[in-house]
Amino acid sequence: MSDATQEYGGGTFDEAVRRSQALRADFLKNPARYRVLTGDRPTGPLHIGHYFGSLRNRVELQQLGIDTFIVIADYQVLTDRDSVDSIPDNVRELVLDYLSVGLDPSSGHTHIFCHSHVPALNQLLIPFLTLVGMGELDRNPTVKEEIDAAGLTTVNAAMYTYPVHQAADILFCKGNVVPVGRDQLPHLELTRKIARRFNQHFCADDRPVFPEPEALLSNAPKILGLDGSQKMSKSRNNAVVLRATADETAALVKKAKTDTDRHITYDPAKRPEVANLLLLASLCTGDAPEAIAQRIGDGGSGALKKVVTDALNDTLAPIRTRRTQLAAHATDVIRDTLRPGIATANRVADATLAEVRDAMKMGYGL
Ligand code: TRP
Repeated sequence: MSDATQEYGGGTFDEAVRRSQALRADFLKNPARYRVLTGDRPTGPLHIGHYFGSLRNRVELQQLGIDTFIVIADYQVLTDRDSVDSIPDNVRELVLDYLSVGLDPSSGHTHIFCHSHVPALNQLLIPFLTLVGMGELDRNPTVKEEIDAAGLTTVNAAMYTYPVHQAADILFCKGNVVPVGRDQLPHLELTRKIARRFNQHFCADDRPVFPEPEALLSNAPKILGLDGSQKMSKSRNNAVVLRATADETAALVKKAKTDTDRHITYDPAKRPEVANLLLLASLCTGDAPEAIAQRIGDGGSGALKKVVTDALNDTLAPIRTRRTQLAAHATDVIRDTLRPGIATANRVADATLAEVRDAMKMGYGL
């Protein structure tokens, strides 16, 4: 099966792209119809791949007045590693990254919380697990890839069941839109099935408890690491993290791989490393990568790297300034962000769990 015809809930990937465009158009007209759930594992600092691929969109949703719940998926960290030692620092960095790019709980639209602090959310996992077959868990392509990528010799049960946990992350707040990358589509499909099955098994036709959430695919082009050959990731040392200094950014770009042709052109197929750098500059400035290439002309990779470094540092400067200010009183900032986010998440989760119990005839008139 080719990628484009890969089935997602009876639809194709192309249909998911079209549907995402339609959703974006409707956000402008009917923001109150939507509740977005999105999140990250606290496994390391966020980098410019996250910024252009998802953080920028989250800020836009906030500006449109769309309610967004952002889950810091701390339990999920334990699916592929044993140690919890790095979690507190990573949560701290994640919150600072979120706030410095402009996500703002005081807008009233953005709620940032850790799922370890929302008991009723986690409790949804138990009924949800009864709605999923072992075979379905075993066939999940993204889980298989993650097991391979992490080189795990033994796999814990939470690794197989985390897509169900993710359904609880989404459905506890009745999220109906989930911004995702392509690799997360199988998970979202499972969430849709769980919502549908729950409603069919336990609810009257006219009183479904859960919406079937839709994927919102990013329309940003995929950027690679500065080595130009692999996905950007901190562990591959090919990422510009948001908190890096201007000098660190310059040094990383300087080391970036290019080729020997001094005439700069935008040719992703033949010159992937050069194209990736042009794309980065383009994402920062809004100019087309072809136009940037033309301006550099015969300047070679030195001139290209100067353009990219300046573009990145200009774009990141206000984010870094805000980050430094916030980091100066980080303990207070983290607490003042997570406390209200967790309180809101608990209120919403408790209400949903009460509905779930009632639907499952476990309310007992209490
Ligand atoms: N699995 C996601 C990731 O690794 C993080 C995540 C946890 C998530 N729960 C979620 C994403 C719910 C979207 C919806 O990035």
